[in-house]
Amino acid sequence: MTTPVTTAINFYQGHDPAALTAKYGSPLYVYNENIFRRRCRDMASLTTYPHFKVNYAIKANTNLSLLAIAKEEGLSADISSPGEAVAALAAGFTPKDLFFIANNISQEEMAFAIVHGIALSVDSISQLETYGKLNPGGEIALRFNGGIGGGHHESVVTGGDGTKFGIRAAYIPQVKQLLDKYRLRLIGINQHTGSQNPEDLYLSGVEELLTIARQFENLDFIDFGGGFSIPYMKQSGEAPMDLAYLGRELTRQMENFTEEYGRPLTYMIEPGRYICAESGVLLGTVHAIKQNGETKFAGTDLGFNILARTTLYDAHHDIEIYRTATCETGAALSLLSVSSKPDSSNISSIVESAVKEPINIVGNQCESGDYIAKSRKLPPIREGDILGVLDAGAYGYSMSSQYNHRPRPAEVLITECGNIKLIRRRDTYDDMLANMRM
Ligand code: LLP
Repeated sequence: MTTPVTTAINFYQGHDPAALTAKYGSPLYVYNENIFRRRCRDMASLTTYPHFKVNYAIKANTNLSLLAIAKEEGLSADISSPGEAVAALAAGFTPKDLFFIANNISQEEMAFAIVHGIALSVDSISQLETYGKLNPGGEIALRFNGGIGGGHHESVVTGGDGTKFGIRAAYIPQVKQLLDKYRLRLIGINQHTGSQNPEDLYLSGVEELLTIARQFENLDFIDFGGGFSIPYMKQSGEAPMDLAYLGRELTRQMENFTEEYGRPLTYMIEPGRYICAESGVLLGTVHAIKQNGETKFAGTDLGFNILARTTLYDAHHDIEIYRTATCETGAALSLLSVSSKPDSSNISSIVESAVKEPINIVGNQCESGDYIAKSRKLPPIREGDILGVLDAGAYGYSMSSQYNHRPRPAEVLITECGNIKLIRRRDTYDDMLANMRM
């Protein structure tokens, strides 16, 4: 097998993508533990400031095996629901490792945090009042919206006017009244400005939140949120973010503010995508090639039930094509096969060619918005090819569904020493019917 040239490192570590789909089914999410650990370490070493916590935003990928690795790497977790708390606890996190950043939650969900001793942040005056009534004398954090926002698509911008998130600084007097009224201790403040943002936008957000922090005494922590970007267009030469610059500036801001604040402060960040996106590739199979007028389509099993980002946000994912040399119908045959080790004459290689043609790569869902790529210039694709959708580890499986009553795929991990480990089995039809059998 030729090493994919566009993935960050030798992603498959000698395994053949076609053999993986043959054994575990297509589509299939494949993760690389080395890359995942490296990204955890990038974030953990972002700053030299001593009291710094990296809360992995687990909504990006809640697979228990990945969560356990994040915990092993010393990360804490940002959770957005009791369900995510249950997953994090099952993976080995303790309640003290979790920060529940809530948006419009019920009293039952607040009670969940209180009972389990999980730090909670609410993000409106009305939710603060609800919390105060539920847990007078308790501890609470607040999410502010300092006015800075950005993102790769308007749906992921979470700061500024017009978003539902955070408390605007103008409401600080009301916040203080409620804190007094219910004798609540404000343990920290947090924000999240959006996703896939450049360094300077992040740093402007930091500055804005520190301005808000000046208005509260005795905070234990300040959490600047997630949103760190990854280069989705590596095939076109997109560079990764400048972590050295970001880390340097962040350290400067944190050190200066702590000195001014006159009290030890813990600072936190909440990366989701940065931790897991690049460690995941989604594999799928090409089942049909079709010309429709001017437009050529490659029809695959990669519907928006499997990866929603392209349909939802028009997001770009680089794509690689893998082909088994010996027979073009080999993929169909291997789907039925249980053998994971094709003989060496049948190992697939990455398709590279100077000739490229624009093609729409679409899924098998009954909607026209079901696509993975539009007018993408790629080497000619054939039936039976395996496609690798790169950088699919974040918001891939975690946003998948059973739409059209299709099972969600399996997930496998290429471990540090290069073994393949099944970390989530594919849904069975029985799983899919189980909740409806009373
Ligand atoms: N913190 C909070 C409070 C968040 O809501 C999020 C993401 C994060 C941290 C992590 O953001 P990240 O570092 O991953 O950008 N489904 C979209 C992204 C939605 C992000 C929602 N909140 C996508 O596929 O691009």
